[in-house]
Amino acid sequence: MRVEGRDPSRRRILGIGGALGLMAATGLSASAALARRPSVTGAELRSAVPLPPPFQVPLPMPAVLQPVRTSGGTDRYEITQREASAEILPGLKTPLWTYEGTFPGPTIESRRGRPVTVTHRNDLPVPTVVHLHGGRTPAASDGYPTDLVLPEHWPEQQPEQQPAERPMERPDAAVHVRHGMHDPRAVVTRRTRDYTFPLDQRPALLWYHDHRMDFTAPAIWRGLAGLHIVRDAAEDDLGLPAGPRELPLMIADRAFAADGGLAYPALDPTLRERPGVHEAYLAGVLGDVILVNGAPWPVHEADAARYRLRVLNASNARHYELEAVTDDGRRLDLVQIGADQGLLAAPVTHRLLPIAPAERHDLIVDFSGLAIGSRVRLLNRLGSGRTRDVMAFRIARRATDGSRIPRTLSTDLPTWRRTDAARVRDFSFRTGRMRGGHGWLIGGRPFDPARTDVTTRLGDVEVWRLVADVHHPVHLHLAGFRVLSRSGRPPLAHDAGLKDTVSLRPGEAVEIITRFDGYRGRYLFHCHNAEHEDMGMMANLEIT
Ligand code: C2O
Ligand code: CU
Ligand code: CU
Repeated sequence: MRVEGRDPSRRRILGIGGALGLMAATGLSASAALARRPSVTGAELRSAVPLPPPFQVPLPMPAVLQPVRTSGGTDRYEITQREASAEILPGLKTPLWTYEGTFPGPTIESRRGRPVTVTHRNDLPVPTVVHLHGGRTPAASDGYPTDLVLPEHWPEQQPEQQPAERPMERPDAAVHVRHGMHDPRAVVTRRTRDYTFPLDQRPALLWYHDHRMDFTAPAIWRGLAGLHIVRDAAEDDLGLPAGPRELPLMIADRAFAADGGLAYPALDPTLRERPGVHEAYLAGVLGDVILVNGAPWPVHEADAARYRLRVLNASNARHYELEAVTDDGRRLDLVQIGADQGLLAAPVTHRLLPIAPAERHDLIVDFSGLAIGSRVRLLNRLGSGRTRDVMAFRIARRATDGSRIPRTLSTDLPTWRRTDAARVRDFSFRTGRMRGGHGWLIGGRPFDPARTDVTTRLGDVEVWRLVADVHHPVHLHLAGFRVLSRSGRPPLAHDAGLKDTVSLRPGEAVEIITRFDGYRGRYLFHCHNAEHEDMGMMANLEIT
């Protein structure tokens, strides 16, 4: 069965040439842009191969990585980043860049407060750097975009790019980035690097992904993303659906070229030198195939019982508005129990649930009332045609269900108040000019690794006011935050809990509050539309 798309003429896609150009040309205000309510920021690539019908292939589960050692209270893992190919669309081989040969990469399962060291080895043809998204991680292991792990055969630097005024002190302590920018603080290694994660943080679904300067978007697109789950005893004791009834769902859109490879509009398809995408895709790259855990529109055989769905939007630019619909047209409740940074205080029930790139929602859906053989489709109300489908559940069997959804989920959420804030800062997230071309700017400036944009003191509480032109999912490294307001009004239902990524909608001003806690050092905040991120929409945060 196919879900018919909306009339394409009614699709409201906000591209550079569309409403953005309109805003620039006519001075259309941000609030007018908001009133137009474009559902998407980005442009869709069309696959050049026939697409399979939905809900045929089984939902894969990423393998759980086994530690190579567990001595001294630390779990040690090894991951090789390498090229591999996978059959994503039936009958086609798709070359990928992977962690350990699979997309998604293997899942790491951790306990709160038990440190993990991951030795990453780069066997890919380009430099890489790993970031644990949502991790409370010391700066040296946070995957700063210039802290590159070079492949075995890669020049240490391109001498013609080295600015004469900044001689390198140490041969491994500098790296040249785009357009002669220079980062004297970069720590570059060759072939391998150990990342250490204390994981002294609330239990949550984290994810690890590539964060290479200028090339994050295409690297994630090619497959460099995996899940990392942190658990603790308090969460285990809640009685939430578990084991085979807890499903991590990494949702990501992709497009496929005629040869079966992933299509991506990179200016330099080798991803070696020239960053950026073709002009039509400057607002973001969308695919026409929806993958869940690496499979196109999969189906999962489910018990007639409660399930815990741990949803990550790992798409570069695509937003989703999820709903779960039975074949007889009933919408099931999506009971949200957790956000990016772990459990909510109490469950929040949604019928429709937006999810922006890099956000995570922890959801309970209850299939217990459904007939055996019936089907529930997870749909994306912002999609059209094929991108309206996400995945399906086929209710395969009756089952006993001892799970529950406690009315109190957690009692340790931070309760910072405005009056706690040492300062209030304003940041605009807008389109602009960068190096003579199009860029995406924070506070009017494109990212420069050598510039400190924000300096704060460890332990300070701050309120940040974030203003957007188009959709910008804004992500803060290190510190979880709470959403205080949206354009002067109370936060939305799905803003509850502790977040690390907040979806700014066109024209919106969102206030967040956080405490810069954990570690000193250089961190980032940025838009997690991965194309925006690569085109300047990042800034440095120095915690002193
Ligand atoms: Cu998920 Cu700085 O990134
Ligand atoms: Cu992050
Ligand atoms: Cu953005």
